[in-house]
Amino acid sequence: MQDIEKLEGELLGEIGNITNLDALESLRISALGKKGSVSLMMRGLGQMDPAERQIIAPQLNKLKTTVGDAVDAAKARLHAAELDIKLAAERIDISLPARPETQGRIHPISQVMDEITEIFADMGFDIAEGPDIEDDFHNFTALNIPPEHPARQMHDTFYLPEKEDGSRQLLRTHTSTVQIRTMQSQEPPHRIVVPGRTFRCDSDQTHTPMFHQIEGLVIDKTSHMGHLKGVLVEFCKAFFEVDDVTMRFRPSYFPFTEPSAEMDIKCTFAGDHVKIGEGDDWLEILGCGMVNPRVLAHCGIDPNEYQGFAWGMGIDRIAMLKYGIPDLRAFFDADLRWLKHYGFVPLDVPTLGGGLSR
Ligand code: DAH
Repeated sequence: MQDIEKLEGELLGEIGNITNLDALESLRISALGKKGSVSLMMRGLGQMDPAERQIIAPQLNKLKTTVGDAVDAAKARLHAAELDIKLAAERIDISLPARPETQGRIHPISQVMDEITEIFADMGFDIAEGPDIEDDFHNFTALNIPPEHPARQMHDTFYLPEKEDGSRQLLRTHTSTVQIRTMQSQEPPHRIVVPGRTFRCDSDQTHTPMFHQIEGLVIDKTSHMGHLKGVLVEFCKAFFEVDDVTMRFRPSYFPFTEPSAEMDIKCTFAGDHVKIGEGDDWLEILGCGMVNPRVLAHCGIDPNEYQGFAWGMGIDRIAMLKYGIPDLRAFFDADLRWLKHYGFVPLDVPTLGGGLSR
């Protein structure tokens, strides 16, 4: 009887002091396992006379249950403590930024191209592209600029060395080349915008030999000048992120459109800054018109059946205007400090829903 109480006291004491699950398991085996101290005592019951056994057996059973319960309680306590330690170690600060801000920046030209293509994609335009190195036909002849045409002089073209057959490739002077490539390779109707690099032998404060344009082309059986105007008004409002833009079309001349126009928008210059949409100055932003039937014919499209409109716009200048960037040449200096100041965070992709420039 005394032995039983003593053993119970010892075991409960040890269990109470235990600090890890492995030690608890060894202790359980040493007490309640087949050869454990409690089990050995129970085995002793066989040798007892019935009267003694009747007294001792319930005490041993109680010992077994008490020790078993104490082991279970200790197990639960140690599991809980282990979980606490794990949770403390794996704690994360959810107020930290999701990822560190990237160092790289999107160049304002790329940003503006993304903004413009987003606006026209939303109107249902496809994005088309063409090669920087072109031939005479796509850059001039097919656009109704035949060899002796004075408009060729205005383009200050970069030519590549003459080939054996006497022809010379060139760096495209405008994105209008992709009008031709699209009309030659696909069936009408067409509805495309063409962002891309263009080249002219010209360099001063407001011109760089490489610059960027975006071209638009719509060809179907019914589109007219009114649609052209509607598309451009909607574009200007979305791009300059203003509710209203006052604009005017001035009659102009381009060999590939007839009639042709240049579009100006109202603005106010205040120091470095321009306010777009209203004011007392006019800003010329693009050339446009109804596609000349001769251009359609050059591409194998019947001008009696199809018609449409086109426009072409310099990207660099409107990027300068929208983001108040004073010097065009800095665009191409590859100066990281400049890019850090004027560039855009890569994950802020311009969308009409989420905002173009934020
Ligand atoms: N290609 C012309 C240029 O570079 C711009 C242009 C004007 C494009 C009128 C057009 C247009 O498509 O219709 O100066």
